[in-house]
Amino acid sequence: MARNKVQRTPAETLFKKELKALSKVDDGPKPANWNLSPASVVDYIMGTELEDGTKISPKYIGNRSLIELAVATLTTERALLLSGIPGTAKTWVSEHLAAAISGTSRLLVQGTAGTHEDKLLYAWNYPILLAKGPVREALVPSPVMRAMEAGKIIRIEEMTRMPFEIQDALITILSERSLPIPELNEEVFAAEGFNLIATANDKDKGIHEMSGALKRRFNNVILPLPESIEEELKIVTNRLSPKLLKASGKKPNKQSLEEIKKVITIFKELREGKTVDGQTALKKVTSTLSTAEIISVVDNALAMGTYFDDGTIKPRFLASGLEGAIVKNKDSDMNPWKEYIEIVLKKREDWSDFYKQLSKTKKTEE
Ligand SMILES: Nc1ncnc2c1ncn2[C@@H]1O[C@H](COP(=O)(O)OP(=O)(O)O)[C@@H](O)[C@H]1O
Ligand SMILES: [Mg+2]
Repeated sequence: MARNKVQRTPAETLFKKELKALSKVDDGPKPANWNLSPASVVDYIMGTELEDGTKISPKYIGNRSLIELAVATLTTERALLLSGIPGTAKTWVSEHLAAAISGTSRLLVQGTAGTHEDKLLYAWNYPILLAKGPVREALVPSPVMRAMEAGKIIRIEEMTRMPFEIQDALITILSERSLPIPELNEEVFAAEGFNLIATANDKDKGIHEMSGALKRRFNNVILPLPESIEEELKIVTNRLSPKLLKASGKKPNKQSLEEIKKVITIFKELREGKTVDGQTALKKVTSTLSTAEIISVVDNALAMGTYFDDGTIKPRFLASGLEGAIVKNKDSDMNPWKEYIEIVLKKREDWSDFYKQLSKTKKTEE
């Protein structure tokens, strides 16, 4: 039977060629158990062109020194905390860091309100435990323990979604670099190369602040929103679904890029509560309005253009996804959004396509 293709390939597989090419020319000093030198890890994330002509695609678009700080942290005995509002590439950067440093991004714990300590420490295989008692064979190591033994990077996603007493199970691991197993009277020591990358959203509901004791084990690197419309455009076009681009048979043309820029401008203005010319103050909406949301609005428009039209990104397809991305909470967001359409968009001459579409979706709703 033919094997189905998976929907999403891990970074280390998707960018295998780039990682290999970097490793071939990498002559920088390497911390023990790292696949690449810190300088090459930064090149992998920020993108570059190697002397042999291999292009390394940029993964993170933004301030290089933030990535340098993140990579440098991982060479020390401090763990790395990537924080910021949702959609600022925390997960994305952490996956690529782990892939470049350890060759795997799959050692991962997803933090939720229901995450149990055994996800961070170890659990027991009960049939074996009952038959043989507490023996090593009965122990089920967590991804954290496996990363410690292998000297690799462990990723903890959404750290602050876990209750803080669960988070605190990491304190011994990070300060002593060991994980005691009292039932076996043993402990697992972290091999060289082990470190931890946690991500945390600082604007979401239901988050549990980290304890001071745990925070001190981390360097906090805050990933910001993109600086400019141009930068955000680069991020968005870089992340359009390759499958859709292939199906549509073309890259976004100049006109499509102009339309995407308008979407970015709308997000930016609503985020900042004023128009880009600084002339009009706007009511703010409560949703995050992240780059990730823009990517999904544009991806959606690309899908519609590809399957229902000529494959280009049209204002009407972009507009149809906008309201859902911007109005997350009807009570608080609908009003500012409608006002924005009527006060700002209506007056912009070359935006009439957008305005027409958006005022139309509004009418059908009413
Ligand atoms: N500065 C950036 N550079 C590259 N990609 C970015 C940037 N900001 C956001 N993205 C993209 O946004 C998407 C969502 O990012 P994600 O890592 O899931 O966000 P977070 O974990 O911060 O909520 C990713 O696909 C990522 O490619
Ligand atoms: Mg995330």
